[in-house]
Amino acid sequence: MLLSLIHGLVPIVVQSATPENVTNVATENNNQSFTLTFLPSHGIMKIELLKIAFRERRNSMEHQLIIVLDFGGQYNQLIARRVRECGVYCEVKSYKTPLDEIRALHPMGIIFTGGPNSVYDEKSPHISKEIFEMGIPILGICYGAQLMAYTLGGKVSSCDNSEYGKTETHYDNSSILFGGIHLPETAISWMSHTDYVSELPEGFRNTAHTNDCPNAAFEDASRKFYAVQFHPEVNHTFAGVGMIDSFVKNVCGCHGDWTMASYAQTAITQIREKVGDGKVLLALSGGVDSSVAAALLAKAVGNQLTCIFVDHGFMRKNEGDEVEAAFRDSGMNFIRVNAKEQFMSKLRGVSDPETKRKTIGEEFIRVFEQEAKKIGQVDYLVQGTIYPDVIESGLGDAAVIKSHHNVGGLPDYVDFKEIIEPLRMLFKDEVRKLGVELGLSPVLVWRQPFPGPGLAIRIIGEITDEKLEILQDADAIFREEIAKAGLDREINQYFAVLTNMRSVGVMGDFRTYDYTVALRAVTTSDFMTADFAQIPYETLAVAATRIVGEVKSVNRIVYDITTKPPATIEWE
Ligand code: XMP
Repeated sequence: MLLSLIHGLVPIVVQSATPENVTNVATENNNQSFTLTFLPSHGIMKIELLKIAFRERRNSMEHQLIIVLDFGGQYNQLIARRVRECGVYCEVKSYKTPLDEIRALHPMGIIFTGGPNSVYDEKSPHISKEIFEMGIPILGICYGAQLMAYTLGGKVSSCDNSEYGKTETHYDNSSILFGGIHLPETAISWMSHTDYVSELPEGFRNTAHTNDCPNAAFEDASRKFYAVQFHPEVNHTFAGVGMIDSFVKNVCGCHGDWTMASYAQTAITQIREKVGDGKVLLALSGGVDSSVAAALLAKAVGNQLTCIFVDHGFMRKNEGDEVEAAFRDSGMNFIRVNAKEQFMSKLRGVSDPETKRKTIGEEFIRVFEQEAKKIGQVDYLVQGTIYPDVIESGLGDAAVIKSHHNVGGLPDYVDFKEIIEPLRMLFKDEVRKLGVELGLSPVLVWRQPFPGPGLAIRIIGEITDEKLEILQDADAIFREEIAKAGLDREINQYFAVLTNMRSVGVMGDFRTYDYTVALRAVTTSDFMTADFAQIPYETLAVAATRIVGEVKSVNRIVYDITTKPPATIEWE
């Protein structure tokens, strides 16, 4: 994947810059940093979005390679990730990739992914029989298994009873895939199919079955062709990763010596080759993804990289300084723009949530433009897109940037130019591992998601300096207590909100009339739905007591126990 990241330039879907795909420059979730090119003739910036494909180049950094050939399955990257977990370098390629190109990469093995089609459907993705004559071990998964059988002369039929989900599966442990991984003769696998292989091609033998699927696995060990109808990459398949490990090591002969350090090294080399002596620009939000991307680029191209960190003043307590401290001496040109006053002046009198978001988004772009213009011509923009941000139409050809929460609008005259996305193939936890590998501070590596407009959308009603300070202090205490309770890696997002409500209280012998702070903490895997976190009462009690005691103008704490939906995670 990284090997293929740095290649010619393929235009992607973005025709015009919409607010959605641009304005989250300062966010953790989207990490929408973007590249800028100045067209002096226009006197304005012209930005064009291009996808950087990777170059298939074998060099001194070369690793043993497994290719995942994508036939449109939803788990394509998950398979790649599992292979990486086995310590083997892996790239996902379209099934349309010319065989010569595949040959030139010298893969140790190939894995065919699943896909939504039936092999008998004319429009379904097929592959030349020649791939089976290249002498490379192949593992077919789900549709990939059916395609292997079909292409080699077997028969695929419709199931009488389709299988979906956890399925009891009987294994023949004399198969190299299943032997030696502590797999019982009967175990659960994850199935999702309406067709099945009804007749094996010549030379193949059956190695697993279920009640409804006679050929749940089959192989021709002499030619090193293996096939499984179920999904070993999915957690629900018992010992599934062991099967993949067995394929890549015992069948393909990979050593399993690839690590995140190798990934970093390869990425750095490739980025250097790509960028040459060009100038690179990155909008740094301080979120995990843009921070890791910045650290990687800094290692690769040093002072050819300029990072612009627009501090809109709505960061959490001390956060702006932490980001600065992490990058100030990294060798790159680091520009922190302290634009709080500028943002605050635009927000005076604004209490409507959408107007706040839009105003901050627009101002963000203004500030970024002003700074970027000072740098002059740049060649590349770095974007911290990670795999879950990418909505791919099956094969990674069309990259659509997640259009998640926007925080404002980008003027029409701003187009896009060229982007490097070095994290595009990584999952969040892999990005964190890479961050650790690059020596990034734990504060940044383990940072929780933070919305682009920052605390501005956690202060209900008009924002004032006083309210900002109250919220920063309350939020810092809450986060501190969550960490002390050892819950900081369990709860996916947790923060304080300053409600616009004041109520009566008593402190000492005096009546108070102060703000209510709401605490919000959620568990979620995708942030689309969420549960409120069941924080122990003791932890809530300590946080509440401390906030009321230590933060001025707060006399009441409430805990938000709504799920999403119907509530959202943020309050605005
Ligand atoms: P909601 O409030 O919609 O939030 O449940 C879901 C997740 O998105 C984050 N969020 C944002 N992220 N830019 C972002 O990049 C934004 O404008 C934005 N607004 C909300 C929110 O923190 C949660 O993780």
